Amino acid sequence: MSHHDRHDNPEAMNRRQFLILTAACAAIINPKYACARDPDPLIDAGPVGKYTSDGLYEGFRELGFFVIRKGEKLIALSSYCTHRKCLLKTERDHSFYCRCHGSTFDPGGKVTAGPATRDLPVLPTMNEKGHLLVRVPTT
Ligand code: FES
Repeated sequence: MSHHDRHDNPEAMNRRQFLILTAACAAIINPKYACARDPDPLIDAGPVGKYTSDGLYEGFRELGFFVIRKGEKLIALSSYCTHRKCLLKTERDHSFYCRCHGSTFDPGGKVTAGPATRDLPVLPTMNEKGHLLVRVPTT
């Protein structure tokens, strides 16, 4: 071992990232996201401590997800309509509305009106040193 393995060495970082990605891959249930292809990017949604109160957090909407805290559960829900990928708008009751063709989704992401037929996917998340990381599909 030499100083090449130091914490701030870019190669060491890459190895560490790889391990994170591998772990994330195993956690993905949807077979559409095969582990063999390039992993989708991880977005740092900031300290988990930002999300302690129940509610809907919209700060990362344009990057592809909403953060939702409900009791013990902290999830990231895709902010793209499952019909044709328009960005969703949040309603006062925390449901979602798509301005493109009018689809609606309940606060848990279930379709309540078409043309969309698929629920909003819950995106893989992990806690890395107290930060919420969210894997956002690129397609
Ligand atoms: S893209 Fe959302 S309803 Fe068509």
